[in-house]
Amino acid sequence: MRSSSNSDPNHGPVPGRRILLALCGGIAAYKSAELARRFIKAGCEVQVVMTDSALRFIGAQTFQALTGKPVRSSLWDEAAEAAMGHIELARWPDAIVIAPATANTLAKIAHGFADDLLTTLVLATDKPIFVAPAMNRLMWANAATQANMSTLRSRGFKVIGPGSGAQACGEVGEGRVAEPEDVAAVVLAALASGSAAKALDGPLSGRRAVVTAGPTREPIDPVRFITNRSSGKQGYAVAEALRALGAEVTLVSGPVNLETPAGVQRIDCETAQDMLDATVAACATADILVGTAAVADYRCVEVAGQKIKKKTETLELELTKNADILSEVRSLQPQLFIVGFAAETEKLAEHAKGKLARKKLNLIAANWVGNGRAFDRDDNALTVYWADGELAIGPADKREVAGQLAGLIAERYAAACNTAASSTKARKAK
Ligand code: C5P
Repeated sequence: MRSSSNSDPNHGPVPGRRILLALCGGIAAYKSAELARRFIKAGCEVQVVMTDSALRFIGAQTFQALTGKPVRSSLWDEAAEAAMGHIELARWPDAIVIAPATANTLAKIAHGFADDLLTTLVLATDKPIFVAPAMNRLMWANAATQANMSTLRSRGFKVIGPGSGAQACGEVGEGRVAEPEDVAAVVLAALASGSAAKALDGPLSGRRAVVTAGPTREPIDPVRFITNRSSGKQGYAVAEALRALGAEVTLVSGPVNLETPAGVQRIDCETAQDMLDATVAACATADILVGTAAVADYRCVEVAGQKIKKKTETLELELTKNADILSEVRSLQPQLFIVGFAAETEKLAEHAKGKLARKKLNLIAANWVGNGRAFDRDDNALTVYWADGELAIGPADKREVAGQLAGLIAERYAAACNTAASSTKARKAK
């Protein structure tokens, strides 16, 4: 797999970038030592800031040793302020990463408090801010925390995680801090692509979307493969349209001959298995997944090590089923907003609605294919279905179709967030 973007195709380590890594007080603070190490390894300069509660969980010396810089923790440290005052410190980084971010600090930031060094820096900066929330599952689900997160997202804060699983408090649920490798991957990719600096205003600002696009290639031998007629044009147009609505977009792409849309992070892959791995990793921190890729349903049981010679009149290839990417991601992330595509040559509505239910999707965009329709063309027509509605889009140019589809995704996504918030409220009222 290769990762690239329009602005910097050599994305990867980002030498010379400055990261202000801020820690709040939670047991997950120990994981930030690994995060600091990853930033340093990527060539970044790292300045650590810790709240008083963070200092109770892990020592400042650990971070001083890792970063080579004294940790800052107080607004009232005269020597540190004389070396670099807090306003200067707020201007210094290319990005601020708050990991772990506690419910308390997130609430303070959402309401504009500035009663310690960390919150003062956040209020005094115009740099991109990433937050990796970490808290007990009920604290995370609490309507107050969720309202604060909505406020932060709408202001362009980039939220990474949290994940689900066993918690330090012994409970199981959502609220685990995102793993250091995932936080580092998101921040470094954004710094490398330049997208960190560009928070676009729109209904999807602060949201992260993953789009799969193009065909896959399933090898038969070193020179041959099984593929399909997908050009990737519709998926690339969807990625561009979601970006235009303010989302941070990762495009997981099969082999196609297209330019990466501006401001979009692209990960190239070849086989369905590659695409599955890249999509699962990208979705760990996403809000929306749109599966436009025409993923091969089957791959060869055995890939020949050498080119197959034409010695026989007939040749049999044994194929085995590939995993369904959308279903796999759904089983890992029950809350993710997932949009599928259904390319059909017959019984369009019936097949599409079947997939909507079977794959537990939020929306499905159905289109006729075959006989020169949809694949490898510049125009398309879709009928989009969801649990209690449908909308016909096109026929029109694929970019126009993508614009209308992205608008519908933003609308249905907002509706899904409202439903989730009111059912949390109703559960609490019982
Ligand atoms: O079941 P079918 O393959 O027709 O479903 C199409 C939808 O499922 C598309 O959104 C496609 O991107 C997705 N898909 C997938 N993984 C596969 C096959 C299809 O995510 N292995």
